[in-house]
Amino acid sequence: MPTADLCTEDEISELVHTFYDRVRDDPVLGPIFDRHITDWDRHLSTMVDFWSSALRGTARFRGQPMPKHAALPGLSAELFQRWLGLFRQTTATLPNEALGVRANELAARVAQSLWYGYQMSRADALPQEL
Ligand code: HEM
Repeated sequence: MPTADLCTEDEISELVHTFYDRVRDDPVLGPIFDRHITDWDRHLSTMVDFWSSALRGTARFRGQPMPKHAALPGLSAELFQRWLGLFRQTTATLPNEALGVRANELAARVAQSLWYGYQMSRADALPQEL
């Protein structure tokens, strides 16, 4: 269950900003994100809302991740694995271990469901296990 006791808003913000710094530096994922995201400040603030809602229960996130990812061409199980790898590298550096554990669990679950949804909604997606 999400709980505000897990961490502070500052810790969420730090996690999100550090993670997307890594994503943008990544030679494979960086160009994909840069191709689709025109306003990085807005994306980061959306992602802070997402993680704050998911981990602290603040219910601020009002997005639609499934159709947004289904609209991105060329996603694959490998890309989702790579995303999760960078995410785990980021959470491993957090002093708040409980936050890292919860965030990793959630990221894996959301990645799994986004990837299933992606394969269901796109005829061009290669069926692969995540
Ligand atoms: C290969 C992996 C991934 C790629 C390339 C990717 C890329 C993107 C891009 C380009 C957007 C912006 C879409 C838009 O505003 O139109 C986005 C939004 C988002 N992504 Fe991902 N993503 C990936 C995996 C994940 C995973 C594993 C999560 C789970 C935490 C996630 C959570 C989100 C959320 C919550 C949004 C905001 C959706 C909204 O505004 O409604 N993404 N992603």
